[in-house]
Amino acid sequence: MLRFSSDYPIESELLEVIGLFFDINEANIEIECCFGEEHPYIIIDNKVFSNLTEGAQFGKFSRVCKAQLYKALSSYTGKTFPWGALTGVRPTKLGYEILASGGKIVDELSAYGVSKQKAEIVERIICNQRGFGISYDKINLYVHIPFCTSRCNYCSFVSLPVLHNEQLMCDYVNCLIKEINDGTELLKKLGYNVDSIYIGGGTPTALNERLLDKLLDAIPYKGLEYTIEAGRPDTITDEKMDIMLKHNVTRISINPQSFSDKTLQAIGRAHTSDDIINTYLHAQNKFTINMDLIAGLSNEAIDDFKLTLNKTLELRPNNITVHTLARKNGSVIKNEKATDSYGVSNMVDLAYTDLTDAGYEPYYLYRQKNMLENLENIGYSLPGNMCVNNITTMEEFYSVFACGAGAISKQITMGNKIERYANVRDVRLYIEQFDERLEKKNKFFESGRI
Ligand SMILES: C[S@@+](CC[C@H](N)C(=O)[O-])C[C@H]1O[C@@H](n2cnc3c(N)ncnc32)[C@H](O)[C@@H]1O
Ligand code: SF4
Repeated sequence: MLRFSSDYPIESELLEVIGLFFDINEANIEIECCFGEEHPYIIIDNKVFSNLTEGAQFGKFSRVCKAQLYKALSSYTGKTFPWGALTGVRPTKLGYEILASGGKIVDELSAYGVSKQKAEIVERIICNQRGFGISYDKINLYVHIPFCTSRCNYCSFVSLPVLHNEQLMCDYVNCLIKEINDGTELLKKLGYNVDSIYIGGGTPTALNERLLDKLLDAIPYKGLEYTIEAGRPDTITDEKMDIMLKHNVTRISINPQSFSDKTLQAIGRAHTSDDIINTYLHAQNKFTINMDLIAGLSNEAIDDFKLTLNKTLELRPNNITVHTLARKNGSVIKNEKATDSYGVSNMVDLAYTDLTDAGYEPYYLYRQKNMLENLENIGYSLPGNMCVNNITTMEEFYSVFACGAGAISKQITMGNKIERYANVRDVRLYIEQFDERLEKKNKFFESGRI
């Protein structure tokens, strides 16, 4: 049993750090944290750690406390993690803060236990993002398609099966079109410039040809970076590619996740590695192509991952995004036991070395809860092929007008605050309550522009 007490109301953040070292539900340990005193201390199972004020002092109080707890737990257990005490989604944001205050990223991050290698990746990514920054007038359009042809065992995204849901998909697309039309007028009125379009999922190409054409017809912007996260090779037909080309889509994803057929079957993807290659060869030279991979998939060892990397590099897509498996709430694998034999850290390091050696540059990075070994996801691109939407959305540089069930809009207000508005997640409720909820969303955007 974990017995934990803290004199400051930052328990949930401290628990994230404890969760790096122990299974919170199974740990038999007593931890007491006292940060409010002149001489702060931490006691772990009667062992006192009192020399806490050295090291991390940069940034928010809670972040400094997390670093102190990390240091004590690391000394108590002998374990370290590549990202040290950083548990947040965007380490690059901290990198930008450090630069703005005149500090050095590698020095400041090492005080949080971040390895030199990861700190240098943050530096390199920030360098690759030069020229981009916060804008109050630019906005990205996001459209969510919550349908898939089968459910992958690691996935927790809002998504329903295509099978037996034809009418629902039809009604859903009709609502989406209304939300896009209404949004177009609203954004014009509020003085926003739409910078890029991203249709994500789920699997947007799970829509049949007619619905896909109808949806894309409703998007009125021309000449922008326009991405469709097609994703699943088993849904991308030649006809759908022609429809996307007709509507000026510039980028698509064709996602292997793994090139091992055994793994693809085990994780619930209804396609083979040959399907990935065939679809890629049909799409090549028509779109800028991204491929998503996942390190740490169940039962994969480093050699399986190496095969996936090599096969992907043979195809040489414009972008490659390397994810680390996250055991998300709501996924089938949520309770799968982690084992040290995963070696996922080695996989992620191998990807970094092989991809950068092959001429790819890391250009955006984010993390999620419950990632194996608390690692990260990194987007890589060949020179001149970065997805601007990934940078400006992930770094929260631009606002996002998000349409569809579960889609989250973000508004960057003057004063640099980020406000969020979430559409209802349930697809049927999204359709049923469409009009009243649309009004609320409009009010959200209007109030942020005053
Ligand atoms: C929003 S998903 C949609 C992509 C598309 N439906 C597909 O599966 O090809 C985007 C990407 O997130 C990654 N992803 C999803 N769930 C994940 C998880 N639990 N752990 C790590 N990566 C995950 C996968 O690489 C996936 O391609
Ligand atoms: S990973 Fe992609 S295809 Fe698989 S269930 Fe999730 S959204 Fe659908």
